Amino acid sequence: MPVTAVRRKYDYIARLYDILELPIEYGRHRAIRRRIFEGLSGTVLDAGVGTGRNMPFYPADARVVGIDFSPAMLARSARRRQRLGVEVELLQMDVLRTTFPDRHFDAIVATFLFCVLDETQQLPALKELARTCKPTGSIHLLDYAYPEDDRSRSAILRLWAPWVRWVFGAAFDRDTERYLAAAGLEMVERRLLSRGIIRLIVARPKTGAA
Ligand SMILES: C[S@@+](CC[C@H](N)C(=O)[O-])C[C@H]1O[C@@H](n2cnc3c(N)ncnc32)[C@H](O)[C@@H]1O
Repeated sequence: MPVTAVRRKYDYIARLYDILELPIEYGRHRAIRRRIFEGLSGTVLDAGVGTGRNMPFYPADARVVGIDFSPAMLARSARRRQRLGVEVELLQMDVLRTTFPDRHFDAIVATFLFCVLDETQQLPALKELARTCKPTGSIHLLDYAYPEDDRSRSAILRLWAPWVRWVFGAAFDRDTERYLAAAGLEMVERRLLSRGIIRLIVARPKTGAA
């Protein structure tokens, strides 16, 4: 799906986003979001910040910047920032072309962003995260994926897929990890959560990568 179409989709669904994902947010996502942000410090990027669902879990001593290309999603996250009293800078930016300097962030988190980016955008987005991550930093990617060895759960996800595609412009078959090496990243950790339907990838810039 072209970038402008995805942005328009999110501008349109921004007011419904939190309601649409409310059951899975409390049933499944919150515990995972908490774990991802635990122990992160320094300058942290929340890429594809959306309505700010990660905000309750930002470490108190980190300087967090949230980016999103949808003004309507950013407006929602600004409201959540105010409601929660969280310190976070919010910027409208495309993750494929950010204006951050090289080696800027100590940690980068992207929750449910790469399943929205199509296959041709996976490598450019990873390259941009690699460029802006410090050599000592880490990149944390959380996405839905078809479970590897659970046919019944895979079938349930396949039934759910057209709805998710239509509403969120997202897909469960993104092969993000295939592009890590080409982006100058190496995998540190790969964990399957929620009985295999959520995949957490932690990566870092390859030693010696430019
Ligand atoms: C499924 S939502 C996830 C939002 C949030 N991270 C969460 O965990 O609830 C995906 C978000 O990524 C944003 N997004 C998609 N493509 C983007 C891009 N190329 N640059 C910046 N943001 C993008 C969308 O506007 C949307 O807010």
